[in-house]
Amino acid sequence: MTLEQIAAPGSEWWRSAVIYQIYPRSFADASGDGIGDLPGITSRLDSLKELGVDAIWLSPFMTSPQRDAGYDVADYRDVDPLFGTLADFDEMLGQAHARGIRVIVDLVPNHSSDQHAWFQEALKAAPGSPERARYVFRDGKGPNGDLPPNNWESVFGGGMWERVTEADGTPGQWYLHIFDATQPDFDWTNEEVREEFRSILRFWLDRGVDGFRVDVAHGMVKEAGLPDYAPVADADSMGGGEENVPYWGQNGVHDIYRDWHEVMAEYDGDRALCGEAWLPTLKQTALWVRPDEMHQTFNFPYLMTPWDAAQLRSVIRESLDEFGRVGAPSTWVLSNHDVVRHASRLALTADNPQGEGIGPKSPGKPDAVIGLSRARAATALMLSLPGSAYLYQGEELGLPEAMEIPDEFRQDPTWFRTNGERYGRDGCRVPLPWTAAGQSFGFNDTGDSWLPQPDEWARFARDVEERDADSTLNLYKQLIVLRREHNLGSGSLVWEDAGDDTVAFRRGDIHVVANLGTEPVELGDGVTFLVQSEPFTGTALPPNTAAWFTKA
Ligand code: GLC
Repeated sequence: MTLEQIAAPGSEWWRSAVIYQIYPRSFADASGDGIGDLPGITSRLDSLKELGVDAIWLSPFMTSPQRDAGYDVADYRDVDPLFGTLADFDEMLGQAHARGIRVIVDLVPNHSSDQHAWFQEALKAAPGSPERARYVFRDGKGPNGDLPPNNWESVFGGGMWERVTEADGTPGQWYLHIFDATQPDFDWTNEEVREEFRSILRFWLDRGVDGFRVDVAHGMVKEAGLPDYAPVADADSMGGGEENVPYWGQNGVHDIYRDWHEVMAEYDGDRALCGEAWLPTLKQTALWVRPDEMHQTFNFPYLMTPWDAAQLRSVIRESLDEFGRVGAPSTWVLSNHDVVRHASRLALTADNPQGEGIGPKSPGKPDAVIGLSRARAATALMLSLPGSAYLYQGEELGLPEAMEIPDEFRQDPTWFRTNGERYGRDGCRVPLPWTAAGQSFGFNDTGDSWLPQPDEWARFARDVEERDADSTLNLYKQLIVLRREHNLGSGSLVWEDAGDDTVAFRRGDIHVVANLGTEPVELGDGVTFLVQSEPFTGTALPPNTAAWFTKA
């Protein structure tokens, strides 16, 4: 195959789709217990149809003790009662499909919950047993084995090893957990683990899902021998800033994805795998989506780029080059359930590594007005780019990060494992405001909400924004309609020069300019606007604004 052949884009839906992430516990709550659920999602599918998205990705709703908001799965083949039943899932899937919306579910293969039957069996079994071999159990160091097997540090803070008590009551082996101690890592060198996950993939594919978002796809394989490693100072905890980490981005993961690629190919309808892989470079990230591996991977370098024109131009250029080289679409993403919402993040004035969060005592809090303008401009830019774009629930309302959550409500394990030093991710996970009226802004009928909603969120409520032509919601709708009408999800991009502080390019006849500077940028004569990220008159593009236009 020549490079041109490899790079020739196909027509599969995931190459250009707008995919909306639903965080089930915070989307819509039909049962009224304060935690969102599957019937809640079903009841609100029409609003997503109106928004115009092609697909939804649901964060985990499988059986789980919820020690990491469902990313600790105890049974991969069932729905947690908090969210409903398998029948509720089938109903939701059918209703989404009936509206032409595809459905991607979250698969968490790096680790299970400590309540998973396999881990419970492992605890009861002896060191060296097949039950223990499904996880990463090791003897400790030191004369009594009371030191951890190596010096790795958990992403959520503290050590990466937990010691167990053996069946006879004596202190025993240690097990590895990249995340919380309640999330033991599987041993992916074990064929039994591989077979189990093929079967889990088929379980959901048989039900009709269109794909999987693969959690911690870069962490599943660890360097043989588990050598000591200390993260470099201020590297981000998910691995995006570090090279050669023995538990991130190991070569062996690619065998797993090739294997899964074949499982997906057994099914009709272009089912897709999207990897969550935080890697230091786009070149490495693109290896995840070679033609026989995953179909998409999140573009975290793009997400992490600050509001800076030169850096943004460069990350877009590099993304198109590197993904294009392997024949994959680039993806684009600005927010998700692990990062500070981009309406706040893009106006932060102090460093804020991924996972840190913002709370009452954080330095560098953002200006809300500037943040929202930048977020709208950033989204207008993102939705004009070729490839697939991910949206995170609530960004279409312009929601800021919830920065004043009282400590007693916090639930992110990061907060507990760092003794409150890092606020963690609760601030981007607060339940959505659907209506300005009602105790929980229409999230449910009872007023309960697992995280408190800021009072000021009444003005971001969906019903308020629906009535306001200039709202963020209506901007998103307009952008998505135009993106589809002009087929902007595929095709190429021609760079243009509108000044150092801008990002400017042409997509066919449509010019796109974002102004990241502090002075207006004159766009010249003969301009007809298709969309402005914020309304303005004349042809001078204000700071923190983006526009799509044609030129006579
Ligand atoms: C991923 C998820 C995050 C979770 C972690 C452990 O990064 O996005 O929310 O805490 O994996 O499963």
